[in-house]
Amino acid sequence: MFPLRRNRRLRTNESIRSLVRETILSPNDFLVPLFVVEGKGVKDEIPSMPNYYRYSLDLLEKEVKELWAMGLKSVLVFVKVPDNLKDNKGVEALNPNGLMQRAIKVIKNAVPEMIVMTDVALDPYSVYGHDGIVGNGMILNDETSGFLAQMALSHAQAGADFVAPSDMMDGRILEMRELLENNGFINTGIMSYSAKYASAHYGPFRDALDSAPVDLIDIPKDKKTYQMDYHNRLEAIRETRMDIEEGADIVMVKPGISYLDIVREVKNMSEVPVAVYQVSGEYAMIKAASERGWLDHDAVMLEQTTAIKRAGADIIASYFAKDIVKLLK
Ligand code: PBG
Repeated sequence: MFPLRRNRRLRTNESIRSLVRETILSPNDFLVPLFVVEGKGVKDEIPSMPNYYRYSLDLLEKEVKELWAMGLKSVLVFVKVPDNLKDNKGVEALNPNGLMQRAIKVIKNAVPEMIVMTDVALDPYSVYGHDGIVGNGMILNDETSGFLAQMALSHAQAGADFVAPSDMMDGRILEMRELLENNGFINTGIMSYSAKYASAHYGPFRDALDSAPVDLIDIPKDKKTYQMDYHNRLEAIRETRMDIEEGADIVMVKPGISYLDIVREVKNMSEVPVAVYQVSGEYAMIKAASERGWLDHDAVMLEQTTAIKRAGADIIASYFAKDIVKLLK
């Protein structure tokens, strides 16, 4: 007697394993998040994100040229807004000469073919650290949605290729699409954070931008009234379907590794590309454990990122993009 099937034959050595491998990471998979700050000559390491930096515009130019040379062809831009420019409505977000608008121009100038995607949400501009306008102890949906459409238009006018609303208000994709179309930005894409969970994995990102929700009486201290409840699955399908109907060109699931079931389901139902955000907390966990010698940094990084692609990600927004591309060489 012998085993009916010897599955181990296809695992005998690296040559055969690589021949039958189903999922392979490539530089084309990655979208690189970039944190931008005011100032000159600033390359500021984020304490809870070792080896990840905030750049001032002069150094940003050098960074995007380096990314392009490595084969990384898209970036997702976030700005850290000075406290004195924050308010409840995000007025600064519409400043044609604001940090985001200047950052877009700097990147497009340095590398015209680089795909520039911009974060559209109020949190970096909000005194309350919320993604929307606060009123009557709530995050106001329709007021915020209208404002975010204006913000998206401002990014498009500055030269963004894609706007990426990360706020989870209802109806904002349709409103944004309409305003872009009416203003002639017919080719500006929308990557919607369509299934974004209220996750405890965003802490380091909020450190990076100094954008955590404030602890005040009468104002929600978390984002659970707009970001999704992690106990739920069908809600992700509904959110994604609606965003596609409203005009999203790319949809997203966020975070990554704890949500691979959702990634697979969204991939199976979506006829537009699916992005997954491997978020700051996922990055920080791997960094922290490997600094202690408890995990092999590169091995865990590759395993988790490959798992995200295997689950169905067409695009991976990842702070590991450069590290991974270096290893692939
Ligand atoms: C804000 C935004 C967040 C992230 C992307 N856009 C934080 C939040 O929703 O609080 C998280 C990214 C990360 O943790 O890496 N709208």
